[in-house]
Amino acid sequence: MNGTVAVIGAGTMGNGIAHVFAQHGWTVRLIDVAPAALDKGIATIRSNLERQAKKGTISPDAVPEILGRIEARPELEGAGDAELVVEAATERADLKFDLFHRLDTIAPPAAILASNTSSISITEIGAKTRRPAQVIGMHFMNPVPIMQLVEVIRGQATSDETTRRTLEIATALGKTPVEVNDYPGFVANRVLLPMINEAIYAVMEGVATPEAIDTVMKLGMGHPMGPLTLADFIGLDVCLAILEVMHAGLGDPKYRPCPLLRRMVAAGELGRKSGKGFYRY
Ligand SMILES: NC(=O)c1ccc[n+]([C@@H]2O[C@H](COP(=O)([O-])OP(=O)(O)OC[C@H]3O[C@@H](n4cnc5c(N)ncnc54)[C@H](O)[C@@H]3O)[C@@H](O)[C@H]2O)c1
Repeated sequence: MNGTVAVIGAGTMGNGIAHVFAQHGWTVRLIDVAPAALDKGIATIRSNLERQAKKGTISPDAVPEILGRIEARPELEGAGDAELVVEAATERADLKFDLFHRLDTIAPPAAILASNTSSISITEIGAKTRRPAQVIGMHFMNPVPIMQLVEVIRGQATSDETTRRTLEIATALGKTPVEVNDYPGFVANRVLLPMINEAIYAVMEGVATPEAIDTVMKLGMGHPMGPLTLADFIGLDVCLAILEVMHAGLGDPKYRPCPLLRRMVAAGELGRKSGKGFYRY
């Protein structure tokens, strides 16, 4: 049975998450502090739905129907009738801690509070609420309407019932959920980021060009995208932030961010979003 979900943050991930829930029959409250982000989020969902209709994966009539299930709201009180909250706001620990503290008083007592965080501890987020058993990670991948995986992260206090319901919801959205425990980087980034970091070391040490490294990994390992192309897509600032979290949280020097990555971020070379990273856009 589909209920009401509140999605906090209408950026890259939030609009994709709202899209997928609405497409699967949920009533969606899309909440963002920035009115411009709400407008842009809704416009992005509309154009992505229209593309799906053109491709024939949904009917043209479904576009207004799905959009009609999404209500854009500027204030957090919009989560007042949600059975599930999926937080996809900016990746800053203080901001998420404050959001969950407030959501705990706004959302119905039975609601599950999920975070789409890439790296912040679900256990620490849960500890900011009076319902840590109902706090869980629901880590969607970018672009959300296309990528199959949802990493479901259990914090120290997350209950079996919360986990079961979250896995059930992700499956009903047509995704494949994978259950993991709450350690820095979870699984996706714990395995991906050291590979990207090593590829950056290989560039720094002059082992090969970015094009050559990406070709080795694509043609030799069957990766659909080389690690440096992927790093540009994720954002080099985001890659650096995730490596910092793993380095600090796990304390092992194998996670230390490559000096070239630091230098590029300091220079504003952030990948696709800034027009220049390992490649030019
Ligand atoms: N971009 C990715 O590839 C990716 C992949 C997986 C997970 N994530 C995670 O998803 C989350 C969102 O990332 P994103 O890339 O969509 O960021 P984004 O910058 O595109 O969007 C974040 C949005 O949150 C809004 N926001 C900030 N503070 C808020 C508040 N107090 N209340 C409501 N809205 C608020 C901002 O206005 C912005 O629109 C982060 O935790 C990130 O780590 C990102």
